[in-house]
Amino acid sequence: MKIGFLGCGNMGSIYAGYLSQVHDVYVFDVSEATIDSVKKNGILIDEPDGTTLSFRPKMATTNPDDIGPCDLMIVFVKYMFLADALRNAHAMFDDHTMVMSLQNGIGNTDEIAKVVPTNQILCGTTAHGGNTIAPGHVRHAGTGATQIGTIDPANMDKVREIAAAFEAAGLPCDAKEGNPLNLVWHKLFANIVINAQTALLNVQNKFTNDNEDAHYLGDKMVREAIAVANATGGHFDVEEEVKGAFNVAVLTGENRSSMLQDVDNKRRTEIDIINGAVVKLGAEAGIPTPYNDFIVHMIHAKQATY
Ligand code: PAF
Repeated sequence: MKIGFLGCGNMGSIYAGYLSQVHDVYVFDVSEATIDSVKKNGILIDEPDGTTLSFRPKMATTNPDDIGPCDLMIVFVKYMFLADALRNAHAMFDDHTMVMSLQNGIGNTDEIAKVVPTNQILCGTTAHGGNTIAPGHVRHAGTGATQIGTIDPANMDKVREIAAAFEAAGLPCDAKEGNPLNLVWHKLFANIVINAQTALLNVQNKFTNDNEDAHYLGDKMVREAIAVANATGGHFDVEEEVKGAFNVAVLTGENRSSMLQDVDNKRRTEIDIINGAVVKLGAEAGIPTPYNDFIVHMIHAKQATY
C-alpha cells in the first residue's frame, strides 16, 4: 500500500516508521531539519526496552508534489493548520485516496472535510505516545491498539484493509463499525482528564490520577464531557468512562502529555478541540460545563504568557 504522511512529528514518525517496514511510505513535513535527519539516519525511534530503531521510508521530502497520489494519507498536523496543509499537499491525494486522522479532539474531520470529500475521510484513535528527542528522533512512550472507522459504511472494506495493513507492520489495529465519533469521544475523555492539567501543572500523566485535587478536577471535567457526549447522540456509561479515562492516566503514567509538550515548546495547544469542544457542544445542547470552561481559559491565558 502506498501510504503518505502529512506531518512527521512524534506520532507521524512512529506510524511512518513502523508502516515503512512492509509498505511504501512517503513522508512530507515542512521542517527541513526533520526531513534532513530522516534522509540521513532514517526515522529514529527509541523503544521502551532501550533499543533505538531506524526505519527507512521510501521517500522523505519537504515538497509534497514529489510524492503523487497515495492509497492512504495519514494526517498528523494540528487542526488549525490542517485544511491549509491539505491544500498545499493536494498532489498527495486524488479521488481514490482515503485520508485518515488519528488525532486528539473533536473537529479534525471537519477541517479535513474543507478540502477532501467526506466519503474519503476516515478517523480513529491511537494509544501510542511519543516525545521528541530531536527532529526525526522520537521516544516511543506508549503503545496499544489503533482503532479506526468510517462515517460512510460503504468504506468499511477499506477500513478493514487498512487495519490489516497496520497489523502486517506490527501495529495492532481494530476496524470498528458504527459511528467513529464514538471512538473519538472515548479517547477525548482521557484527554479531558489528563492534557490541560498536566500542561498547567508541568507534571506526568499519572499525577492526574494520584493527586487528590487533580483527580477531583479531572472527575468533574470528564463527567461534564460524558454528559455532553450523551446529550449529542452518544450512549456512554458514565462510571465506566470515568474509570477508563483515569486508567489511561495510569497506563501512560510516565508520559508528558502532548499538551504539556506544546506548552513546553510554546506552541498553540489543542485545547479548543478538547475541553473547548465540550464547552461549545455543551452550550449548544444546554449542558453546563463550568469546569471545562475554566480550564480552557487557563490554557488560553498560559498560551498568552509565551
Ligand atoms: O495527548 C496525549 O498525550 C495522549 O493522547 C494521552 C493519551 C493523553 C497520553 O499522553
